[in-house]
Amino acid sequence: MEEFYKELDDFIESLDDKKNDYKILSFVVDRKGYISEEIINYIAKKIDMFPFSLEGTIKFYPKLQKATTKYYIQVCVGRNCGRKDLKDKIQELREKTRFIIEERNCLGHCGRGSTVTIGDEVFKYNTLNELEKKITNLK
Ligand code: FES
Repeated sequence: MEEFYKELDDFIESLDDKKNDYKILSFVVDRKGYISEEIINYIAKKIDMFPFSLEGTIKFYPKLQKATTKYYIQVCVGRNCGRKDLKDKIQELREKTRFIIEERNCLGHCGRGSTVTIGDEVFKYNTLNELEKKITNLK
């Protein structure tokens, strides 16, 4: 980890605009694939910004946002997959798990059950209970 911070310091030093948090956070994603709270705090201190400013940048760019969660989940709410109360269930699961759960209108796997993707894997479910179990059982 120490070596990573050294690389990160060198990268920041190499930037013309040392407060370009998007570039810095992208560097982190490319190197580590994951943006931890520790890294956010480190960068904030290093470039003299508040962590919440960096979090604002992260929320704005999907590439960065995906890298803050262990599981990137997309639930189809499209015509073939939508179910009564699905959107409420998604919101409930977001609050319960703190995972990023995005709603999509089609994930390209229509038919035979509703679709959810977790990372690169595609799953089908028939009831909201099944969906909930699948997501809450992730570790
Ligand atoms: S409508 Fe859900 S995968 Fe196509």
